[in-house]
Amino acid sequence: MFEGKVILTGVKPTGTPHLGNYLGAIRPAIQMGNEAVKNGGKHYMFIADYHAINAEKDPAVLAQKLKEIACIYLAGGLDPAKSVFYRQSDVPEITEITTILYAYTPKGFMNKAHAYKAAVDKNRAAGKPDDDGINMGLYTYPTLMAADILAYDTDIVPVGKDQVQHVEIARDIAGAINAHYNQELLKLPEYYTDDHVAVVPGVDGRKMSKSYGNVIPLFEDDKSIKKSIFSIKTDSRPMEEPKNPDEILVYEIYKAIATPAQLQEMGDGLRQGKLGYGHIKNMLLDAVINEIKDAREKYNYYMAHFDEVEVFLQQGAAKARPTAQATLKRLKDAVLGR
Ligand code: TRP
Repeated sequence: MFEGKVILTGVKPTGTPHLGNYLGAIRPAIQMGNEAVKNGGKHYMFIADYHAINAEKDPAVLAQKLKEIACIYLAGGLDPAKSVFYRQSDVPEITEITTILYAYTPKGFMNKAHAYKAAVDKNRAAGKPDDDGINMGLYTYPTLMAADILAYDTDIVPVGKDQVQHVEIARDIAGAINAHYNQELLKLPEYYTDDHVAVVPGVDGRKMSKSYGNVIPLFEDDKSIKKSIFSIKTDSRPMEEPKNPDEILVYEIYKAIATPAQLQEMGDGLRQGKLGYGHIKNMLLDAVINEIKDAREKYNYYMAHFDEVEVFLQQGAAKARPTAQATLKRLKDAVLGR
């Protein structure tokens, strides 16, 4: 898959990723990037810190989130020797490219972008003026994102469904510029969404989300992971009563990490009334800890040695910039007649 393709993954340093994010989004993105590199392609992986400042105004919080995200990706198997791993703000060509893209971006595209529209809807629902509290960074968010993508002649952008529209906007802007100058100045990117990744329910059965307060934490200590797993919703049926595993939340969460044999064992035990809720929670806990323990060790190491991570990020930016510079030069020559 992705032979010879340029893949680009961007992540905003906001929030603290939980087990669901890790299994459902972070690890699949790393695997996809590694696969592309193995097959003669390229993988760009960057942290979108300029996108984050639209919402986060506390630099200490931003720096901390960036640190966590960088360490999580390294812990999850991102190899900075293979992927081009950098901070958005360390590649100044991106913001220059953004300025040029503005001149070719119809304002209507921004009016229609989800993030902006959602903010307006929220204001309306609260009886506030449409643009209350909305800054230009949020409004023009998709243009900066287009520059992130177009700078590297990206073929494929793996995204969650909420970001599909943004990749389409990048494509439309690139198409408009190419058409105007009648040459392929910018490569048209495609989005990629994976429907097969694990969706991990939270401890109350709803989608795992920080806003619901139902997350299983990622790289915390065994005790807090245990506390969270033992809070998974169950009922008061006794162990001996045969149960349908598909109606049991612990089993649903187990599906995201257990091997087929492990899953079979838990399923049989429930159906036969041989495993109680305490047993299956312990089985899940063991599986979760087993799944994350090596990565957690790496995560803790990098968090404590961030100077090493900083070197990776600087090397990554140095690798990224020549390509972004070439794109910028092509654009400047064309649009400024230089
Ligand atoms: N908008 C993305 C998000 O919120 C982050 C992002 C910024 C991004 N620039 C990008 C993703 C470029 C892919 C490509 O998740």
